[in-house]
Amino acid sequence: MPLIRFVLSQLIGWAVVFAALKLGAPLSGFALAISQGALAALASRALRAPRWWHAFHLAFTPLVWAASGLGIPAGWYLVAFTVLALFYWTSFRTQVPLFLTNAATTHAVLELLPAGPARILDAGAGTGSLVRPLAAARQDCQIVGIEAAPGPWLIGRVLAAGAPNVAWRRGDFWAESWADYDLIYAFLSPVPMPEVWIKAQAEMRPGARLVSNSFAIPGAVPDFVVPATAAGGRELYVYSPAAKRKAPIKG
Ligand SMILES: C[S@@+](CC[C@H](N)C(=O)[O-])C[C@H]1O[C@@H](n2cnc3c(N)ncnc32)[C@H](O)[C@@H]1O
Repeated sequence: MPLIRFVLSQLIGWAVVFAALKLGAPLSGFALAISQGALAALASRALRAPRWWHAFHLAFTPLVWAASGLGIPAGWYLVAFTVLALFYWTSFRTQVPLFLTNAATTHAVLELLPAGPARILDAGAGTGSLVRPLAAARQDCQIVGIEAAPGPWLIGRVLAAGAPNVAWRRGDFWAESWADYDLIYAFLSPVPMPEVWIKAQAEMRPGARLVSNSFAIPGAVPDFVVPATAAGGRELYVYSPAAKRKAPIKG
């Protein structure tokens, strides 16, 4: 789990630095901070964390050390932590951060909606930047947005208030049945895509589409791909999960 590896790397860095201090190493201030950072980065590498985490470890303690010299009141750190926690919530576990679908991509998604009335799910709906324009453009469709993080959910709740065809919910899209939707939109990260495919194949009904912004499902063949040039700089991978479902083996 990424969080455990992060904490472990930091602890290893501190343990070695403390041992060096005990042995009389002349470390203090920036030298101490950068030594801990370098050791934590090495530990992160040894624990096979993703490469970009090594850079975080290298910079973490030196940045804390530098910030401590700025005289910022401690309360501001709590405020910053609280805001980040409200917006990024369980991203450390899900590895799906918040970033928003742009207007051009939304337009491309609109083109993929069924011609008639339909139920659409934005799985991990952020602030509703896709949900609202879809709902406005397609009054005949019910657009459901499910978002886990309280910060973006609250913004979406305020902005979507009064839209008759939006169901805006706070929750976990994994706990939702995907059987009732004609199109499910996912703008997540590479990490959950294999699991998304398993759920989509198990639950989505024949004819229903799964549209993944930017992240292809490993090993699954899309029906087609809307190129980035036609979708606001993001590729849209369009799948029909039920059609790819393996038929049960008859005995
Ligand atoms: C990349 S953002 C996309 C936001 C929105 N769909 C858009 O296109 O503008 C992904 C969002 O999914 C949310 N998320 C991740 N896992 C989730 C889960 N299991 N249930 C609900 N939301 C989740 C994250 O909090 C984040 O806000």
